[in-house]
Amino acid sequence: TLSNPLRPAILAAARSARMKRTITKAPVTKRIVERFIAGEDRPAVLAVARDLLAGGAAVSIDFLGEQTTDRGQADAIVAEYVALLDDLAALTPPDADVPRTEVSMKLSALGQALPGDGDKIATENAWKICSAAAERGIWVSVDAEDHTTTDSTLAVVTALRSEFPWLGAVLQAYLHRTEDDCRAMAGPDSRVRLCKGAYQEPPEVAFQRKVDVTDSYLRCLEILMAGTGYPMAASHDPVVIAATDELATRNGRAANTFEHQMLYGIRDLEQKRLVEAGSTVRVYVPYGSQWYPYFMRRLAERPSNLTFFLRSIATR
Ligand code: FDA
Repeated sequence: TLSNPLRPAILAAARSARMKRTITKAPVTKRIVERFIAGEDRPAVLAVARDLLAGGAAVSIDFLGEQTTDRGQADAIVAEYVALLDDLAALTPPDADVPRTEVSMKLSALGQALPGDGDKIATENAWKICSAAAERGIWVSVDAEDHTTTDSTLAVVTALRSEFPWLGAVLQAYLHRTEDDCRAMAGPDSRVRLCKGAYQEPPEVAFQRKVDVTDSYLRCLEILMAGTGYPMAASHDPVVIAATDELATRNGRAANTFEHQMLYGIRDLEQKRLVEAGSTVRVYVPYGSQWYPYFMRRLAERPSNLTFFLRSIATR
């Protein structure tokens, strides 16, 4: 039940430019990265999305990028999302009862951390993506980043929801505040993706032990599933998956009123099993050249991923 002891070191490496150079240059890295990232460009991610949709899953596509440091970079990310939405529109099954295609975005990629009016720039950029998505019948969710951004991100989502009520928020169960956030966001129309949380956070704001994070997740899930919104249970944990289905039954929820969500490359067979059981399953599929921090968070989640990675480098 204890956290992976290497997790803090790996998450520190995720923020280090020197480690980034070393790891991205290792010849073997690419092969391992491919397990978690659909590819570096749009055609690659669209091919993956097409296959997942054909298999009965829904998708949420993330153009990788975070911590944008200038406006030009943020504008380029918006342009990529709009192009992606155009391509996704052609793949979106028109007759589905919930939109089968979605994009996920990080406000830090859209300029949130820019000095001065970062929040305003990120909001404008997010608005552009939401309005392009609305025209095409595609959903959008805003990813959750480290806890210093939570207030700002939820404020931006709330503001945008007056125009785009289907806009999804992500809440992280490891934060002490999240149970209250769930209570505030379990109302009609709200779409909340609940995840455990992937960043290194201090004990003042976040549960540290795995068992406490899971307990918090289950309390949050209970609130969302009993509410009138559209909960999205993002987890690969068998305990969470079983609890989600049990709470759906208890609350009389049909399969089109909540979702299971998992990451591309993780527990594929479980994703298939849930689709075959009639659940709505959305797979989060990242693509792009800026995969380093996302990849490192996946390594930090599971010691065996890291061991496999290090062994591959060592045996070269
Ligand atoms: P847990 O970590 O306990 O894993 C349960 C089981 O799942 C493991 O035993 C293993 O079998 C499998 N597994 C989990 N991670 C694995 C890995 N990396 N490699 C191989 N197997 C693995 N976080 C965040 O902070 N902000 C966000 O916006 C999002 N968005 C998001 C969207 C979606 C759709 C998902 C599924 C997850 C996120 N996350 C996230 C990540 C999330 O916070 C969390 O770090 C991971 O989902 C791992 O937690 P689990 O709930 O899967 O449980």
